Amino acid sequence: MNNLDKDINDLKILIPEKDIQNKLIELAEKIEVSFPKDEDVFVICVLKGSVMFCADLVKHLKHNVQMEFIRISSYGHETKSSNNLQAIDLTLPNLTDKNVLIVEDIIDTGLTARFLTDLFKIKHLPKKLLFVSLLNKKSARQIEIEPDFYGFEIDDKFVVGYGLDYKGYFRNLPYIGYFP
Ligand code: IMP
Repeated sequence: MNNLDKDINDLKILIPEKDIQNKLIELAEKIEVSFPKDEDVFVICVLKGSVMFCADLVKHLKHNVQMEFIRISSYGHETKSSNNLQAIDLTLPNLTDKNVLIVEDIIDTGLTARFLTDLFKIKHLPKKLLFVSLLNKKSARQIEIEPDFYGFEIDDKFVVGYGLDYKGYFRNLPYIGYFP
């Protein structure tokens, strides 16, 4: 038994696994040409939600990549953004003058993306900073911000799977789904 009030049998597929995998190749090609060819790229995986996306995306990058991990939380156990960001672990090496790619699962209100972009620009002074998000809920935005690249624009509905969770569950699904 668990305290989960959603049944996986009710889940509807929004983005199938195959579409996600194809999109990774497309995104990696765009990212590849956006960084100087012979230079290293620091890929910042924003935990926990972007764990799957980031792990799969880096497999398609031909640059010399170094992966770093930071952890931020904004949802708690709800399906609405709390507007209350919790920076749980922002430990990073020196990224001054480095090529940096921030990898997010989804941009919803935009608060996390704004926080991260400002943090990196002000604190880390990278040579080049790019932001990629798998999903983009444009209609949920509370502040104006757009990623450099994104995979899919989706409606303002709560989605799970492929790293995204509800109450800690469903991250392991290979597709993106929602509860109607
Ligand atoms: P924002 O700061 O409101 O843009 O939210 C960003 C974070 O909220 C994401 O990195 C996710 O972890 C979480 N989030 C936003 N929308 C969803 C959703 O539909 N499902 C699961 N998590 C979400």
